[in-house]
Amino acid sequence: MAKIHIVFYSMFGHIHQMAEAVAEGARSVAGSEVQLFQVPELVPDAALERTGAKKLRASFANIPIIEPAQLVEADAIIFGTPTRFGNMCAQMRNFLDRTGQIWAQGSLIGKVGSVFASTGTQHGGQETTITSFHATLLHHGMIIVGVPYSEQGLTVMTEITGGTPYGATTLAGADGSRQPSENELKIARFQGKHVAEITTRLVR
Ligand SMILES: Cc1cc2nc3c(=O)[nH]c(=O)nc-3n(C[C@H](O)[C@H](O)[C@H](O)COP(=O)(O)O)c2cc1C
Repeated sequence: MAKIHIVFYSMFGHIHQMAEAVAEGARSVAGSEVQLFQVPELVPDAALERTGAKKLRASFANIPIIEPAQLVEADAIIFGTPTRFGNMCAQMRNFLDRTGQIWAQGSLIGKVGSVFASTGTQHGGQETTITSFHATLLHHGMIIVGVPYSEQGLTVMTEITGGTPYGATTLAGADGSRQPSENELKIARFQGKHVAEITTRLVR
């Protein structure tokens, strides 16, 4: 079996929806075993309450919180993060900064790594969030997988859409009201499937 961990943070639910789509795509590949995980929250409860995030996050609170050591069990790790000032969010950064021991032991070397993201605005840093995330994965010795253009959704020009060759993306809108589109979810499913297909070949 190829073990695929999907590890995400989501404040308002967009990345959670994308994570479920990535999982669906990965599960469609025979021989893959897919698990969803969240990284720990860092924002105080009062602030989450004020922004409405607390209620939204409650709808996926059943997804377990991951410990850094659990990354080692996976053959592939697909990370999902909302953009913060063109970079990954602090919750994800903090989680990755807790992987020092794993890094020192070289425990992720040769595993597949892949990233998907969400921004508020069209040009607010989808690519920078994913490609800057890749640096951490490379330090860990991971093999980076993105989304090739065989996924035709990347070329859609008839609507506003996320989706990059670096990884699936969605646009939340400046007020967070836009939800992932069918095209964005399709690209996310493709990413999950693509990672799972490559990983099953690697672990054979
Ligand atoms: C502190 C902060 C910084 C943000 N920075 C950006 C940014 O640089 N570019 C952008 O387009 N959106 C930015 N956003 C919007 C988030 O990316 C958006 O809320 C997120 O993608 C929604 O995903 P989620 O529902 O999974 O949390 C920012 C939001 C916050 C709270």
